[in-house]
Amino acid sequence: MLPDFVEPGACLELRKQAMILAEKFCPSPQEATVFTADGTAVHASDDYFLSSGDKIRCFFEKDAFDERGELRQDAHLCLNKLGHAMHDLDPIFSEFSHSRRLAAVAKSVGFKDERLLQSMYIFKQPRIGGEVTCHVDHTYLWTEPQSVVGFWFAIDDATIENGCLWVLPGGHKIPVKTRNRLTNDGRSTYDEVIDPTPYPTEGLVPLEAKRGTLVLLHGTMPHRSGANKSDKPRHAYTIHAIDGTANYPEDNWLQRKSLPMSGFLN
Ligand code: FE2
Repeated sequence: MLPDFVEPGACLELRKQAMILAEKFCPSPQEATVFTADGTAVHASDDYFLSSGDKIRCFFEKDAFDERGELRQDAHLCLNKLGHAMHDLDPIFSEFSHSRRLAAVAKSVGFKDERLLQSMYIFKQPRIGGEVTCHVDHTYLWTEPQSVVGFWFAIDDATIENGCLWVLPGGHKIPVKTRNRLTNDGRSTYDEVIDPTPYPTEGLVPLEAKRGTLVLLHGTMPHRSGANKSDKPRHAYTIHAIDGTANYPEDNWLQRKSLPMSGFLN
C-alpha cells in the first residue's frame, strides 16, 4: 500500500474523465449488462461483457433498478464500472496507465516484461454500490506461471463505510481454488473448481485508503469489498498487469494484445 502515490489533482482528472466517458458510452439499460460480483454472475454468458476487452463499456449496478425495472436515477449515476480498455483507448487514462513510474513499480515487484492487460473504473456509487465477494484475480486473468498483479488506485477516500478493499494477510500463499475459462464456443465462461473449500471469511483486514493511494494486489491475494451503504462515492481505478514472459491461455475470457506498461513517453 503506497499512500500519496498519485497527486490529488491527477485523481480528480481521472475522475472527471470517467464521468465524461460514463455519459458518452452509457447505453440504454436494455442493451447493457448488469454487473454483479456477489456470486450471481449474470454477465457470464453475456456477449456485452465478453466482447468488452478492447472497448470502453459501461456496466450497471444491480440495485440501480427499481421494482419495475426502471433506473432509479440518471443512467450514468447507476453504473457499477467502466471496462476494460480505457488504458489504451482514452488519452487521459492511457497517459496515466502507461507510465514509466508504474512500470518501475512493476519491475520492483518482480516483473520482467510488464504488460497492461485490462483497466476498470469502479464507481461504487453511494447507496447502490454493490459488494464484490472474495476472489483472487489469477482466477480470471490466468497465466502460467501466475503473474497478474492488480494496481488499485483510490480516486476517492475509501473507508469501511463506503466499501473499501479487504484482504487476507498472507492469503496469497493459499493455492488458487478456481480458474475461470471460456467454454468451447467462446460464448460464456465457467469456473473450473480446483479446490471446493471457500476462502476463509475470518481474518480479512480493511484497507482504508486516502485519495491517491496505490494498493498493489498480488494475483493470488484473496480480496473483497463491501457494499457502499453510505452517501459518499468510492471511485477507484484499477489496472491489471501480466508478465509477457508467462503463457497466456486461449481460454481466458479476455483475449487481446497486452501492451508494454511504459509504452508512452511519460
Ligand atoms: Fe479483484
